[in-house]
Amino acid sequence: MTSARPRTSVSVRPATEQEWVEVGLLTRTAYAAAGLGDEEYLAHVQDAASRAAAALLLVAEADGRLVGTVTGASAGKPYADIARDGEYEFRMLAVDPAFAGRGIATALVEECDARARDAGAQKLVCSVEDKNTAALNLYNRLGFVREPSRDWNPGPTLQLLVLQRQL
Ligand SMILES: CC(C)(COP(=O)(O)OP(=O)(O)OC[C@H]1O[C@@H](n2cnc3c(N)ncnc32)[C@H](O)[C@@H]1OP(=O)(O)O)[C@@H](O)C(=O)NCCC(=O)NCCS
Repeated sequence: MTSARPRTSVSVRPATEQEWVEVGLLTRTAYAAAGLGDEEYLAHVQDAASRAAAALLLVAEADGRLVGTVTGASAGKPYADIARDGEYEFRMLAVDPAFAGRGIATALVEECDARARDAGAQKLVCSVEDKNTAALNLYNRLGFVREPSRDWNPGPTLQLLVLQRQL
């Protein structure tokens, strides 16, 4: 028998400048714990300040702590890798491993959904590593579907799947 994990009360809002360092470390820690990326990529995801300057850097707060983050961007903007006209993309979704399975990522994705609608987008899109089972399960549960014709390889050993959800 599986027992339900507690859902935590979570609020999502833009990061303040004072939080950029902590958000970067949180992102790096979550990616490293999941075995995602080499040192160069971990340094890239740790750079929350650059994301805040060029895109929407959101944080999730629970129990008075920063526990998650995601970056959102409209098509054509910095940090939009794959978004086309009418699409809103989210990237660098990360949750403190100590808070896994409590709905933090779900809350962050749903805030991206709201921001995408506000921006007039019709689709929410993201890329995910083909081996990232946890993220694929999450997106599947949230109703995202693959668009295999848009899958891409940013590097020789990395295969990214494109997922989308209609708004
Ligand atoms: C993937 C990740 C964002 C999930 O965050 P989370 O806050 O634990 O997710 P939620 O609690 O909102 O949703 C949990 C769902 O995610 C999936 N999931 C989360 N962790 C999982 C794991 N270790 N194994 C399998 N599925 C997992 C399941 O579908 C789960 O549903 P359930 O609670 O009904 O079982 C988090 O593990 C993380 O930061 N991973 C490293 C970075 C990353 O992979 N980012 C996404 C890049 S595309």
